[in-house]
Amino acid sequence: MSWRSIVRGAGRVFALIGLLEFLSAQVRCPTTKEFSHIGMDRAFPSARFIPDTLWVPVVFHLIAQDSGGWLEERRIAAQVRALNRDFAAAGIQFYLPRYGPQGQPTCGVTRHLSPLAVHDWTFQEDTLKSLVCWPPDSFLNIWVVDEMVLSTIGYARVLGDSEGTPGVVLIKSVVGDKVGVQPPFDWGRTAVHEIGHVFSLYHPFEGGCVGMNAQTCAIEGDEICDTPPQSQPHYGCPPLTTNTCHEAPPDLFDPVDNFMGYVDDECMTRFTSLQIQRMREFLFQVGAVLISEENQQARGRNEPFLSGCAAVASLSYSLPSFHIRQAGHSIFMEAEESISLILLDAMGRMILKKEGNQFFLSNLPVGLYIAVVEVRGKPLFFRFFVI
Ligand code: ARG
Ligand code: ZN
Ligand code: CA
Repeated sequence: MSWRSIVRGAGRVFALIGLLEFLSAQVRCPTTKEFSHIGMDRAFPSARFIPDTLWVPVVFHLIAQDSGGWLEERRIAAQVRALNRDFAAAGIQFYLPRYGPQGQPTCGVTRHLSPLAVHDWTFQEDTLKSLVCWPPDSFLNIWVVDEMVLSTIGYARVLGDSEGTPGVVLIKSVVGDKVGVQPPFDWGRTAVHEIGHVFSLYHPFEGGCVGMNAQTCAIEGDEICDTPPQSQPHYGCPPLTTNTCHEAPPDLFDPVDNFMGYVDDECMTRFTSLQIQRMREFLFQVGAVLISEENQQARGRNEPFLSGCAAVASLSYSLPSFHIRQAGHSIFMEAEESISLILLDAMGRMILKKEGNQFFLSNLPVGLYIAVVEVRGKPLFFRFFVI
C-alpha cells in the first residue's frame, strides 16, 4: 500500500471519529515555503539517514472564551512530557519550538480569545483553524478549546491531508498529565491517541471483525497485522482477555490496551511494533519536512529555552518535571524530585542557594533575576522580572 493512498484515505481517519460528512476544505494555512523570506533551505538529503529519534515540534493554540480561562502553563509542559513518555518506544519525541513560522521567538504557545472556544466541530473546524494555524508541514498544531459538542474530547486530521488542515483539536480538560486533569482522561493520552491519527493510524476496531487472516490483515480494518481485529470500541478498563472477533488461529485477545482504542487513559499503554513502523515510515515520507534536520534547526530544538518560557519549559521524560510560576512579587517553583536552585540578582549577586523540591519566594524587590536550576546535574538558566 502506498503512502499516497493513506493520504488520500485521510478522510477515513476522520470518518472514524464521525466527521466525514462535514469535511469541507476552505482553511488556508500557509506552508512554510510561503514564509520563504526566512531564507531557510528545506531541501532534505536524498540518501535517507535514519535517526533513532524523530523530533516533532508541537505548538499549542489556546482558544478561550475569556482571559480567566487559559489552560495552566504547567499542564502544557506536562502534556509534552506525557507525549514523550508514550511515544518513547516509537522513537518519536516532541518539543515546543523556540522559533515560530517567521523565525520569531516563541514559547510554542499562542493565545486567542474567541467565542469559537465553544467548538462545534460539525461545521466549525475550518473557522477554528483559520483563527490561528502554523504551517502544518513544519509544526504539529494542537488547538485547545474550552468545550466541544457531542461530548467529543478530541479529533484529528492526518498529516498531508489536503481536504483540511492537519492537526489535533482537544478540549482543555484532557490536556496535561494527572495534575489538574479530570479522570478518566487524565494521563494526556487523548493527545497521544489523536497524534496517532495524525501519523496515519486508525482505530483497531476500524471496520469491525475484518482483516481476519494473514492475507487481509494488512489491507483491511486498521491495516495493522499485530493489532488483532476488534468488533467495536471498548470503554472503561476491560479485561485483557476480552475477545470480540474470532480470527484465523491463533485467535488472539482484543488489543484493549492499545493507544488507538477508546479505553480510559490509565488502561491504554502501548502502540504495537507494526503501528510504530507505520508511523515512522509515514513520518519519513509525508512528514519529511516536519522531522527534518533543517526544521529542527529553524525551530531551535537544541537551544536552551527562551527566557520567559520557563513556565512551559518541558524537560525530557527521563528528567523530573519542573515548573515555575510567577505572580507579582512572588515566585513559586516545584519539581518532582529535589533540585538545587541558585538565584542571582541583576548584578550577579547570589540571593539564595537552596535544595529542595518546592521553593516559594515572596516580597521580591523590583528587578531582574537570574535563576540557575540544577536538575540531576543538568543546569537550566532563565531570567525573570519582578515589576
Ligand atoms: N474519541 C476520540 C477519538 O476517537 C478520542 C478517544 C481518546 N481516548 C482516551 N482514553 N483518551 O479520536
Ligand atoms: Zn480516534
Ligand atoms: Ca480475537
